[in-house]
Amino acid sequence: MTRHISPYHAPGFYDDALARGRHRDIVGGRWDETGRLQMQILREAGLLPHHRLLDIGCGSLRLGCKAVPYLNPGHYWGTDLSAALMRRGYETELADKDRLPPGQLVEDKDFAFPGIPVDIDHAIAFAVFTHLPAAHLGRALIRLRARFPRLQRFLFTVFLADAARAQEAIRQPDGVVTHPDRPPYHVQAQDVAALAQSAGFAARPLPGRLPRGQILWEAIPA
Ligand SMILES: C[S@@+](CC[C@H](N)C(=O)[O-])C[C@H]1O[C@@H](n2cnc3c(N)ncnc32)[C@H](O)[C@@H]1O
Repeated sequence: MTRHISPYHAPGFYDDALARGRHRDIVGGRWDETGRLQMQILREAGLLPHHRLLDIGCGSLRLGCKAVPYLNPGHYWGTDLSAALMRRGYETELADKDRLPPGQLVEDKDFAFPGIPVDIDHAIAFAVFTHLPAAHLGRALIRLRARFPRLQRFLFTVFLADAARAQEAIRQPDGVVTHPDRPPYHVQAQDVAALAQSAGFAARPLPGRLPRGQILWEAIPA
C-alpha cells in the first residue's frame, strides 16, 4: 500500500469524505468544543476585533465560524490544502457570510500564502503540523516571517517527544499514538525551537491541555 505524508494527501480523500457529508469529521470532529477552544486561545493571546487573522489549514472553518463574527468584517483569512473543504464549510457552517468574502479562503498546499495581504498580524495553525513532517513547519515559519512584516504572533500545535524516545512510536496523554516518520507525527521541542529561531522567531510551548495531547506553541518575531 502506498503511504502518503498525511491522510489528507491520499488521492480522492476530500472528494470521498465530502460526498459522504463528513466535512466536520475531516478536521477531527469535536466541532463546537474545538472551535471555542481556539477562540479562547486567540483571545487570551490578545486577539481583538480589529486584528487580521490568518487561519492556516483552516479546513471547514471550525475556527472560522467563531472568528468571523468576532473579527471586523473581512479581517479573517483562511488557507488549506483543499479548496473544496473550505467551500463546504463556507456554504454549510458560516452564518455571517457577508462578513467573509469567499475569495479570502485560499487554496495553498505548501504554505506560500498566495494573495494573502501583507497586513496579517495574527496567525494560527491548529492541528495542522501534527499531520505533517517537521520540514513543513519550518517552511511555514520561513514564509510567514518573510511575507507578513506586521505579524505579532503565530500559534500552532505539535505533538512532542523527548530525545530518548523520538525515534519510537509514542502514546500521547490522550491515547493517540504518534510517530517520527508517519502521521500523526511528533517532533522534539528543541527542533521546533530551532526551526523557529532560524526563521526569525522566538518560540516557546505554552501551558495547558489540548485535545489528543497536542502542545500549543507561540512564535513571536525576534
Ligand atoms: C485536523 S485538520 C484541522 C483544521 C483546522 N485547523 C481546525 O482546527 O479545524 C488539518 C487541516 O490541515 C489541512 N492540511 C493538510 N495538509 C496541508 C497542507 N500541506 N497545507 C495546508 N493545509 C493542509 C487539512 O486539509 C485539514 O483541513
